[in-house]
Amino acid sequence: METLELVPYPAQVIFTKGSITIETAPRLVGDDAFAAEISLGAAQIAEIGFPSEPDTAIEIRCAVDRELQNEAYRLSITDTGLFLFAGTGIGIFHAIQTARQLLLPAKKTGTVTLPCVNIDDEPRFSWRGCMLDTARNYFTPAFIKKLIDLAALHHLNVFHWHLTDDQGWRFSVPKYPALDEKSSWRIDPRMKQNGFKIEGMYSAAEIREIVAYAAARHVEVVPEVDFPGHASALLAAYPELGCTGGPYHVEGEFGIFEDVLCAGNDEIFDFAGAVFDELADLFPSRYVHIGGDEVLFNRWKDCPKCQARMRELSLQKESKLQSWITVKLSEMLRARGKTAVGWDEVLQETDTFKLPEDFIVMSWRGKEGGIEATAKGHRVIMTPVSDGCYVNFKPLDNAEEPGHLSVCTVRQSYETEPVAGEMNEDQAKLVLGGQCNLWTEVIYASRIAEYMLFPRLSAVAEAFWSPKRSRSLASFQERLPALRERLDALDVNQYRGPLE
Ligand code: ACM
Ligand code: ZN
Repeated sequence: METLELVPYPAQVIFTKGSITIETAPRLVGDDAFAAEISLGAAQIAEIGFPSEPDTAIEIRCAVDRELQNEAYRLSITDTGLFLFAGTGIGIFHAIQTARQLLLPAKKTGTVTLPCVNIDDEPRFSWRGCMLDTARNYFTPAFIKKLIDLAALHHLNVFHWHLTDDQGWRFSVPKYPALDEKSSWRIDPRMKQNGFKIEGMYSAAEIREIVAYAAARHVEVVPEVDFPGHASALLAAYPELGCTGGPYHVEGEFGIFEDVLCAGNDEIFDFAGAVFDELADLFPSRYVHIGGDEVLFNRWKDCPKCQARMRELSLQKESKLQSWITVKLSEMLRARGKTAVGWDEVLQETDTFKLPEDFIVMSWRGKEGGIEATAKGHRVIMTPVSDGCYVNFKPLDNAEEPGHLSVCTVRQSYETEPVAGEMNEDQAKLVLGGQCNLWTEVIYASRIAEYMLFPRLSAVAEAFWSPKRSRSLASFQERLPALRERLDALDVNQYRGPLE
Protein backbone atom coordinates (compact mmCIF):
# COMPACT_ATOMS: atom_id res chain seq x y z
CA MET A 1 0.00 0.00 0.00
CA GLU A 2 1.13 3.51 -0.77
CA THR A 3 1.79 5.78 2.16
CA LEU A 4 2.41 9.47 2.58
CA GLU A 5 5.36 10.20 4.81
CA LEU A 6 3.43 12.26 7.34
CA VAL A 7 3.37 12.13 11.15
CA PRO A 8 0.70 12.28 12.42
CA TYR A 9 -0.97 10.38 9.60
CA PRO A 10 -4.08 12.12 8.20
CA ALA A 11 -7.59 10.84 8.84
CA GLN A 12 -8.13 10.03 5.16
CA VAL A 13 -5.70 9.77 2.25
CA ILE A 14 -6.83 8.84 -1.26
CA PHE A 15 -4.15 8.43 -3.88
CA THR A 16 -4.98 9.59 -7.39
CA LYS A 17 -2.88 9.24 -10.53
CA GLY A 18 0.42 10.94 -11.17
CA SER A 19 2.89 13.03 -9.23
CA ILE A 20 4.38 16.49 -9.06
CA THR A 21 8.04 17.40 -8.82
CA ILE A 22 8.90 20.66 -7.10
CA GLU A 23 12.38 21.93 -7.92
CA THR A 24 12.07 25.65 -7.27
CA ALA A 25 10.57 27.63 -4.40
CA PRO A 26 6.79 27.15 -4.42
CA ARG A 27 4.60 30.21 -3.92
CA LEU A 28 2.07 30.12 -1.08
CA VAL A 29 -0.96 32.21 -2.03
CA GLY A 30 -4.68 32.41 -1.29
CA ASP A 31 -7.68 34.08 0.31
CA ASP A 32 -7.16 37.20 2.43
CA ALA A 33 -8.99 35.47 5.28
CA PHE A 34 -5.81 33.41 5.71
CA ALA A 35 -3.31 36.26 5.29
CA ALA A 36 -1.62 35.61 8.66
CA GLU A 37 -1.24 31.86 8.10
CA ILE A 38 -0.05 32.39 4.53
CA SER A 39 2.55 34.92 5.60
CA LEU A 40 3.94 32.60 8.30
CA GLY A 41 3.74 29.55 6.02
CA ALA A 42 5.58 31.39 3.24
CA ALA A 43 8.41 32.20 5.66
CA GLN A 44 8.57 28.56 6.80
CA ILE A 45 8.67 27.32 3.21
CA ALA A 46 11.33 29.89 2.32
CA GLU A 47 13.50 28.44 5.12
CA ILE A 48 13.54 25.07 3.39
CA GLY A 49 15.75 26.67 0.77
CA PHE A 50 14.44 25.62 -2.63
CA PRO A 51 16.32 27.32 -5.47
CA SER A 52 14.47 30.51 -6.36
CA GLU A 53 13.21 30.82 -9.93
CA PRO A 54 9.95 32.78 -9.81
CA ASP A 55 9.03 31.93 -13.43
CA THR A 56 8.75 28.23 -12.63
CA ALA A 57 7.17 28.59 -9.19
CA ILE A 58 4.46 26.07 -8.41
CA GLU A 59 1.56 27.43 -6.41
CA ILE A 60 0.34 26.22 -3.07
CA ARG A 61 -3.11 27.80 -3.03
CA CYS A 62 -5.18 28.29 0.14
CA ALA A 63 -8.92 28.76 -0.17
CA VAL A 64 -11.89 29.05 2.18
CA ASP A 65 -14.29 26.14 2.31
CA ARG A 66 -16.98 26.87 4.90
CA GLU A 67 -18.05 23.23 4.97
CA LEU A 68 -14.84 22.45 6.80
CA GLN A 69 -15.27 23.15 10.50
CA ASN A 70 -12.86 23.98 13.29
CA GLU A 71 -9.51 22.27 12.73
CA ALA A 72 -10.47 20.31 9.62
CA TYR A 73 -8.71 20.83 6.30
CA ARG A 74 -8.43 19.31 2.84
CA LEU A 75 -5.24 19.14 0.81
CA SER A 76 -5.17 18.07 -2.82
CA ILE A 77 -1.94 17.45 -4.61
CA THR A 78 -2.32 17.45 -8.40
CA ASP A 79 0.27 17.51 -11.15
CA THR A 80 -0.11 21.29 -11.35
CA GLY A 81 0.10 22.32 -7.69
CA LEU A 82 -1.09 21.97 -4.11
CA PHE A 83 -4.62 23.10 -3.17
CA LEU A 84 -5.45 23.67 0.50
CA PHE A 85 -8.97 24.24 1.88
CA ALA A 86 -10.25 25.07 5.35
CA GLY A 87 -13.04 26.97 7.02
CA THR A 88 -10.84 28.53 9.71
CA GLY A 89 -7.36 29.91 10.24
CA ILE A 90 -6.39 26.93 12.38
CA GLY A 91 -7.61 24.54 9.69
CA ILE A 92 -5.51 26.19 7.00
CA PHE A 93 -2.56 26.33 9.42
CA HIS A 94 -2.74 22.53 9.78
CA ALA A 95 -2.95 22.18 6.00
CA ILE A 96 0.15 24.32 5.58
CA GLN A 97 2.05 22.30 8.22
CA THR A 98 1.15 19.10 6.38
CA ALA A 99 2.48 20.65 3.17
CA ARG A 100 5.59 21.80 5.06
CA GLN A 101 6.22 18.24 6.28
CA LEU A 102 6.06 17.02 2.67
CA LEU A 103 8.36 19.77 1.39
CA LEU A 104 11.02 19.63 4.13
CA PRO A 105 13.14 16.85 2.55
CA ALA A 106 14.06 19.44 -0.10
CA LYS A 107 16.31 21.05 2.52
CA LYS A 108 18.86 18.37 1.65
CA THR A 109 18.14 17.63 -2.00
CA GLY A 110 16.63 20.89 -3.30
CA THR A 111 13.72 18.99 -4.78
CA VAL A 112 10.76 16.81 -3.84
CA THR A 113 8.42 14.58 -5.82
CA LEU A 114 4.97 14.12 -4.31
CA PRO A 115 2.25 11.68 -5.33
CA CYS A 116 -1.08 13.12 -6.43
CA VAL A 117 -3.42 12.66 -3.52
CA ASN A 118 -6.51 13.95 -1.72
CA ILE A 119 -6.15 14.36 2.02
CA ASP A 120 -9.14 14.97 4.30
CA ASP A 121 -7.99 15.55 7.81
CA GLU A 122 -9.07 16.58 11.27
CA PRO A 123 -7.97 15.72 14.80
CA ARG A 124 -9.33 12.99 17.02
CA PHE A 125 -8.80 15.08 20.20
CA SER A 126 -8.98 18.80 20.89
CA TRP A 127 -6.17 18.92 23.52
CA ARG A 128 -2.87 17.73 22.07
CA GLY A 129 -0.32 18.90 24.55
CA CYS A 130 3.35 19.06 25.31
CA MET A 131 4.66 20.10 28.74
CA LEU A 132 8.13 21.47 29.40
CA ASP A 133 9.45 21.80 32.96
CA THR A 134 11.38 25.08 32.97
CA ALA A 135 11.70 25.11 36.79
CA ARG A 136 14.23 22.30 37.31
CA ASN A 137 16.24 23.59 34.40
CA TYR A 138 16.00 26.94 32.66
CA PHE A 139 15.54 26.87 28.90
CA THR A 140 15.99 29.93 26.71
CA PRO A 141 13.02 31.62 25.01
CA ALA A 142 14.64 30.68 21.69
CA PHE A 143 14.48 26.98 22.58
CA ILE A 144 10.90 27.26 23.84
CA LYS A 145 9.92 28.80 20.51
CA LYS A 146 11.73 26.04 18.63
CA LEU A 147 9.81 23.45 20.63
CA ILE A 148 6.47 25.20 20.00
CA ASP A 149 7.20 25.31 16.28
CA LEU A 150 8.07 21.59 16.25
CA ALA A 151 4.93 20.79 18.24
CA ALA A 152 2.82 22.78 15.77
CA LEU A 153 4.48 21.00 12.83
CA HIS A 154 3.08 17.80 14.39
CA HIS A 155 -0.39 19.40 14.79
CA LEU A 156 -0.06 19.67 18.58
CA ASN A 157 -1.94 22.67 19.94
CA VAL A 158 -1.17 23.13 23.65
CA PHE A 159 2.12 24.13 25.27
CA HIS A 160 1.85 23.49 29.02
CA TRP A 161 4.50 25.68 30.61
CA HIS A 162 5.63 24.37 34.02
CA LEU A 163 6.92 27.63 35.49
CA THR A 164 7.48 26.91 39.18
CA ASP A 165 8.71 24.10 41.39
CA ASP A 166 10.92 23.40 44.41
CA GLN A 167 13.99 24.08 42.27
CA GLY A 168 13.02 27.41 40.73
CA TRP A 169 10.42 30.11 40.13
CA ARG A 170 10.63 31.56 36.63
CA PHE A 171 8.43 34.63 36.24
CA SER A 172 8.08 37.92 38.07
CA VAL A 173 5.08 38.82 40.18
CA PRO A 174 5.22 42.60 40.68
CA LYS A 175 3.85 42.55 44.25
CA TYR A 176 6.41 39.90 45.26
CA PRO A 177 9.78 41.16 44.01
CA ALA A 178 11.89 38.80 46.17
CA LEU A 179 10.93 35.97 43.80
CA ASP A 180 13.30 37.48 41.24
CA GLU A 181 16.16 37.78 43.66
CA LYS A 182 15.77 34.62 45.75
CA SER A 183 13.66 32.06 43.89
CA SER A 184 15.07 32.10 40.39
CA TRP A 185 18.41 30.35 40.94
CA ARG A 186 19.96 27.39 42.67
CA ILE A 187 23.25 25.58 42.90
CA ASP A 188 23.03 22.06 41.55
CA PRO A 189 24.99 19.90 44.02
CA ARG A 190 26.14 17.49 41.33
CA MET A 191 27.70 20.39 39.51
CA LYS A 192 29.00 22.26 42.55
CA GLN A 193 32.64 21.68 41.75
CA ASN A 194 32.02 23.79 38.68
CA GLY A 195 30.06 26.36 40.64
CA PHE A 196 27.19 25.38 38.40
CA LYS A 197 24.33 27.74 38.92
CA ILE A 198 21.00 27.11 37.27
CA GLU A 199 19.11 30.35 36.99
CA GLY A 200 16.75 32.41 34.94
CA MET A 201 13.50 34.31 34.90
CA TYR A 202 11.25 34.86 31.91
CA SER A 203 10.50 38.57 31.66
CA ALA A 204 6.97 39.74 30.91
CA ALA A 205 8.19 40.81 27.46
CA GLU A 206 9.69 37.37 26.78
CA ILE A 207 6.51 35.63 27.91
CA ARG A 208 4.36 37.86 25.69
CA GLU A 209 6.66 37.17 22.77
CA ILE A 210 6.46 33.39 23.31
CA VAL A 211 2.66 33.53 23.69
CA ALA A 212 2.36 35.54 20.44
CA TYR A 213 4.73 33.15 18.64
CA ALA A 214 2.57 30.24 19.80
CA ALA A 215 -0.69 32.01 18.91
CA ALA A 216 0.56 32.53 15.35
CA ARG A 217 0.92 28.73 15.24
CA HIS A 218 -2.50 28.19 16.83
CA VAL A 219 -0.86 26.81 19.97
CA GLU A 220 -2.40 27.75 23.33
CA VAL A 221 0.12 28.37 26.10
CA VAL A 222 -1.22 27.12 29.44
CA PRO A 223 0.86 28.31 32.41
CA GLU A 224 1.29 26.16 35.50
CA VAL A 225 2.05 27.42 38.99
CA ASP A 226 2.23 24.52 41.41
CA PHE A 227 0.17 24.96 44.65
CA PRO A 228 0.34 24.13 47.52
CA GLY A 229 3.31 21.74 47.25
CA HIS A 230 6.48 21.93 45.15
CA ALA A 231 6.81 25.35 46.77
CA SER A 232 10.39 25.48 48.12
CA ALA A 233 11.53 28.15 45.67
CA LEU A 234 8.77 30.56 46.57
CA LEU A 235 9.15 29.81 50.30
CA ALA A 236 12.84 30.73 50.03
CA ALA A 237 11.69 34.27 49.18
CA TYR A 238 8.54 34.42 51.36
CA PRO A 239 9.15 32.11 54.36
CA GLU A 240 6.09 33.48 56.17
CA LEU A 241 3.93 31.53 53.67
CA GLY A 242 5.21 28.21 55.08
CA CYS A 243 4.13 26.50 58.30
CA THR A 244 7.47 26.72 60.14
CA GLY A 245 8.52 30.14 58.90
CA GLY A 246 11.75 28.70 57.52
CA PRO A 247 14.46 29.40 56.71
CA TYR A 248 13.95 27.71 53.36
CA HIS A 249 16.12 27.42 50.28
CA VAL A 250 15.58 26.76 46.61
CA GLU A 251 16.10 23.01 46.45
CA GLY A 252 19.19 21.71 44.70
CA GLU A 253 18.07 18.14 45.22
CA PHE A 254 15.11 16.41 43.62
CA GLY A 255 12.20 14.66 45.25
CA ILE A 256 9.11 15.51 47.22
CA PHE A 257 9.62 17.94 50.08
CA GLU A 258 7.70 18.41 53.31
CA ASP A 259 7.56 22.18 53.21
CA VAL A 260 4.39 23.33 51.48
CA LEU A 261 2.23 26.45 51.72
CA CYS A 262 0.59 26.94 55.14
CA ALA A 263 -3.11 26.16 54.84
CA GLY A 264 -3.79 28.19 57.99
CA ASN A 265 -2.33 31.42 56.62
CA ASP A 266 -4.73 33.64 54.63
CA GLU A 267 -1.76 35.35 53.04
CA ILE A 268 -1.27 32.36 50.72
CA PHE A 269 -4.46 33.48 48.96
CA ASP A 270 -3.19 37.06 48.67
CA PHE A 271 -0.11 35.57 47.06
CA ALA A 272 -2.16 33.34 44.74
CA GLY A 273 -4.32 36.32 43.79
CA ALA A 274 -1.27 38.36 42.79
CA VAL A 275 0.08 35.39 40.83
CA PHE A 276 -3.24 34.86 39.03
CA ASP A 277 -3.53 38.57 38.21
CA GLU A 278 -0.12 38.42 36.57
CA LEU A 279 -0.86 35.17 34.73
CA ALA A 280 -4.19 36.57 33.50
CA ASP A 281 -2.34 39.59 32.17
CA LEU A 282 0.38 37.58 30.42
CA PHE A 283 -1.49 34.51 29.17
CA PRO A 284 -4.69 34.78 27.09
CA SER A 285 -5.32 31.03 27.56
CA ARG A 286 -8.71 29.97 28.92
CA TYR A 287 -6.86 27.79 31.43
CA VAL A 288 -4.45 28.06 34.34
CA HIS A 289 -2.89 24.90 35.75
CA ILE A 290 -2.60 25.03 39.54
CA GLY A 291 -0.56 21.86 40.06
CA GLY A 292 -1.74 20.05 43.18
CA ASP A 293 0.55 17.04 42.82
CA GLU A 294 2.60 15.29 45.48
CA VAL A 295 1.56 17.33 48.52
CA LEU A 296 2.81 16.03 51.86
CA PHE A 297 0.68 16.85 54.90
CA ASN A 298 3.25 16.46 57.73
CA ARG A 299 3.76 20.19 58.23
CA TRP A 300 -0.01 20.79 58.45
CA LYS A 301 -0.21 18.17 61.24
CA ASP A 302 2.31 20.06 63.37
CA CYS A 303 1.26 23.62 62.55
CA PRO A 304 -1.01 25.47 65.04
CA LYS A 305 -2.39 27.68 62.25
CA CYS A 306 -3.27 24.70 60.06
CA GLN A 307 -4.83 22.91 63.03
CA ALA A 308 -6.88 26.04 63.83
CA ARG A 309 -8.05 26.10 60.21
CA MET A 310 -9.12 22.47 60.50
CA ARG A 311 -11.16 23.27 63.60
CA GLU A 312 -12.72 26.28 61.87
CA LEU A 313 -13.74 24.07 58.92
CA SER A 314 -14.63 21.07 61.16
CA LEU A 315 -12.15 18.84 59.34
CA GLN A 316 -10.76 15.62 60.77
CA LYS A 317 -8.03 15.05 58.19
CA GLU A 318 -5.20 17.28 57.00
CA SER A 319 -5.66 15.96 53.49
CA LYS A 320 -9.00 17.77 53.28
CA LEU A 321 -7.18 21.07 53.56
CA GLN A 322 -5.79 20.46 50.11
CA SER A 323 -9.22 20.07 48.56
CA TRP A 324 -10.33 23.20 50.42
CA ILE A 325 -7.37 25.12 48.90
CA THR A 326 -8.03 23.66 45.45
CA VAL A 327 -11.65 24.81 45.46
CA LYS A 328 -10.69 28.29 46.66
CA LEU A 329 -8.01 28.66 43.99
CA SER A 330 -10.37 27.50 41.26
CA GLU A 331 -12.94 30.08 42.40
CA MET A 332 -10.28 32.79 42.32
CA LEU A 333 -9.46 31.77 38.75
CA ARG A 334 -13.12 31.73 37.73
CA ALA A 335 -13.41 35.31 39.00
CA ARG A 336 -10.63 36.14 36.54
CA GLY A 337 -12.34 34.37 33.66
CA LYS A 338 -10.10 31.29 33.80
CA THR A 339 -10.76 27.60 34.22
CA ALA A 340 -8.55 25.60 36.58
CA VAL A 341 -6.59 22.53 35.53
CA GLY A 342 -4.82 20.31 38.07
CA TRP A 343 -2.94 17.03 38.49
CA ASP A 344 -5.13 14.10 39.51
CA GLU A 345 -4.43 14.41 43.26
CA VAL A 346 -7.10 17.14 43.21
CA LEU A 347 -9.64 14.30 43.18
CA GLN A 348 -8.60 13.17 46.66
CA GLU A 349 -10.78 13.87 49.71
CA THR A 350 -13.39 15.82 47.77
CA ASP A 351 -16.47 14.69 49.70
CA THR A 352 -16.50 17.81 51.89
CA PHE A 353 -15.25 20.35 49.36
CA LYS A 354 -16.50 19.17 46.00
CA LEU A 355 -14.25 19.77 43.03
CA PRO A 356 -16.12 22.31 40.85
CA GLU A 357 -17.64 20.67 37.80
CA ASP A 358 -15.67 22.76 35.30
CA PHE A 359 -12.32 21.73 36.89
CA ILE A 360 -10.17 19.88 34.34
CA VAL A 361 -8.16 16.94 35.67
CA MET A 362 -4.82 15.87 34.27
CA SER A 363 -4.53 12.13 34.87
CA TRP A 364 -0.83 11.40 35.43
CA ARG A 365 -0.41 8.65 38.06
CA GLY A 366 -2.13 6.26 35.71
CA LYS A 367 -5.41 6.25 33.88
CA GLU A 368 -7.42 5.81 37.10
CA GLY A 369 -7.62 9.56 37.78
CA GLY A 370 -9.09 10.09 34.32
CA ILE A 371 -11.57 7.27 34.80
CA GLU A 372 -12.68 8.60 38.19
CA ALA A 373 -12.84 12.23 37.04
CA THR A 374 -14.91 11.47 33.94
CA ALA A 375 -17.26 9.32 36.05
CA LYS A 376 -17.81 12.49 38.13
CA GLY A 377 -18.40 14.59 35.01
CA HIS A 378 -15.04 16.34 34.77
CA ARG A 379 -13.19 16.91 31.54
CA VAL A 380 -9.79 15.23 31.58
CA ILE A 381 -6.44 15.23 29.85
CA MET A 382 -4.65 11.90 29.84
CA THR A 383 -0.93 11.92 30.49
CA PRO A 384 -0.30 8.64 32.31
CA VAL A 385 3.21 8.24 33.67
CA SER A 386 3.59 4.60 32.68
CA ASP A 387 1.88 4.76 29.28
CA GLY A 388 4.29 6.59 27.03
CA CYS A 389 3.64 10.17 28.12
CA TYR A 390 6.66 10.79 30.40
CA VAL A 391 9.62 11.43 28.14
CA ASN A 392 11.97 12.27 31.02
CA PHE A 393 12.31 8.47 31.29
CA LYS A 394 15.09 6.82 29.31
CA PRO A 395 14.10 5.90 25.76
CA LEU A 396 15.82 2.55 26.24
CA ASP A 397 16.85 0.49 29.27
CA ASN A 398 20.53 1.26 28.93
CA ALA A 399 22.97 3.04 31.24
CA GLU A 400 24.29 5.04 28.29
CA GLU A 401 20.96 6.72 27.63
CA PRO A 402 19.97 10.04 29.23
CA GLY A 403 16.86 10.23 31.36
CA HIS A 404 15.94 8.94 34.80
CA LEU A 405 13.56 6.98 37.01
CA SER A 406 12.24 4.56 34.41
CA VAL A 407 12.04 3.66 30.72
CA CYS A 408 9.54 4.88 28.15
CA THR A 409 10.11 3.37 24.73
CA VAL A 410 9.07 4.96 21.44
CA ARG A 411 6.66 2.07 21.10
CA GLN A 412 5.02 2.92 24.43
CA SER A 413 4.69 6.54 23.34
CA TYR A 414 3.22 5.48 20.02
CA GLU A 415 0.73 3.17 21.69
CA THR A 416 -0.49 5.60 24.34
CA GLU A 417 -4.28 5.72 24.27
CA PRO A 418 -6.17 8.59 25.93
CA VAL A 419 -9.50 6.78 26.16
CA ALA A 420 -9.24 4.07 28.81
CA GLY A 421 -10.99 0.76 28.12
CA GLU A 422 -12.92 1.17 31.38
CA MET A 423 -14.61 4.39 30.21
CA ASN A 424 -18.13 4.31 28.84
CA GLU A 425 -19.21 6.49 25.92
CA ASP A 426 -20.18 9.47 28.07
CA GLN A 427 -16.86 9.31 29.90
CA ALA A 428 -14.93 9.03 26.64
CA LYS A 429 -16.54 12.27 25.44
CA LEU A 430 -15.02 14.06 28.44
CA VAL A 431 -11.48 13.12 27.38
CA LEU A 432 -10.18 16.33 25.84
CA GLY A 433 -7.02 14.58 24.71
CA GLY A 434 -3.55 13.81 25.88
CA GLN A 435 -0.20 15.24 26.71
CA CYS A 436 3.47 14.39 26.68
CA ASN A 437 5.56 15.73 29.58
CA LEU A 438 9.26 16.50 29.78
CA TRP A 439 10.44 16.92 33.38
CA THR A 440 13.96 18.25 33.45
CA GLU A 441 15.67 17.23 36.70
CA VAL A 442 18.48 15.63 34.69
CA ILE A 443 18.03 17.50 31.42
CA TYR A 444 20.73 20.13 31.57
CA ALA A 445 20.63 21.37 28.00
CA SER A 446 18.16 21.91 25.19
CA ARG A 447 20.03 19.44 22.97
CA ILE A 448 19.29 16.73 25.54
CA ALA A 449 15.68 17.92 25.76
CA GLU A 450 15.36 17.47 21.99
CA TYR A 451 16.80 13.96 22.26
CA MET A 452 14.24 13.07 24.94
CA LEU A 453 11.37 14.55 22.94
CA PHE A 454 12.07 13.13 19.50
CA PRO A 455 10.78 10.97 18.09
CA ARG A 456 8.60 10.23 21.14
CA LEU A 457 6.72 13.52 20.85
CA SER A 458 6.06 12.74 17.18
CA ALA A 459 4.75 9.32 18.23
CA VAL A 460 2.29 10.69 20.79
CA ALA A 461 1.20 13.37 18.31
CA GLU A 462 -0.13 10.58 16.12
CA ALA A 463 -1.93 9.03 19.10
CA PHE A 464 -3.64 12.36 19.81
CA TRP A 465 -4.45 13.31 16.20
CA SER A 466 -5.04 10.27 14.02
CA PRO A 467 -8.08 7.99 14.05
CA LYS A 468 -7.50 5.04 16.34
CA ARG A 469 -8.26 2.52 13.56
CA SER A 470 -5.40 3.83 11.40
CA ARG A 471 -2.67 3.64 14.02
CA SER A 472 -0.01 1.00 13.46
CA LEU A 473 3.53 0.85 14.79
CA ALA A 474 4.66 -0.86 11.57
CA SER A 475 3.31 2.05 9.54
CA PHE A 476 4.95 4.57 11.90
CA GLN A 477 8.21 2.69 11.50
CA GLU A 478 7.93 2.93 7.71
CA ARG A 479 7.47 6.68 7.98
CA LEU A 480 10.25 7.09 10.54
CA PRO A 481 13.15 7.67 8.09
CA ALA A 482 11.25 10.58 6.53
CA LEU A 483 10.38 11.92 9.98
CA ARG A 484 14.05 11.72 10.97
CA GLU A 485 15.02 13.58 7.81
CA ARG A 486 12.55 16.38 8.59
CA LEU A 487 13.88 16.65 12.14
CA ASP A 488 17.42 16.78 10.75
CA ALA A 489 16.36 19.51 8.33
CA LEU A 490 15.14 21.51 11.33
CA ASP A 491 18.36 20.90 13.29
CA VAL A 492 16.70 18.75 15.96
CA ASN A 493 18.76 16.31 18.00
CA GLN A 494 17.00 12.96 18.14
CA TYR A 495 17.17 9.50 19.67
CA ARG A 496 18.00 7.00 16.91
CA GLY A 497 18.00 3.70 18.81
CA PRO A 498 15.55 0.78 18.87
CA LEU A 499 11.85 1.55 19.28
CA GLU A 500 11.47 -0.97 22.10
C1 ACM B 1 3.96 14.94 38.25
O1 ACM B 1 4.58 14.21 37.47
N1 ACM B 1 4.42 15.16 39.48
C2 ACM B 1 2.71 15.57 37.86
ZN1 ZN C 1 0.48 25.71 58.50
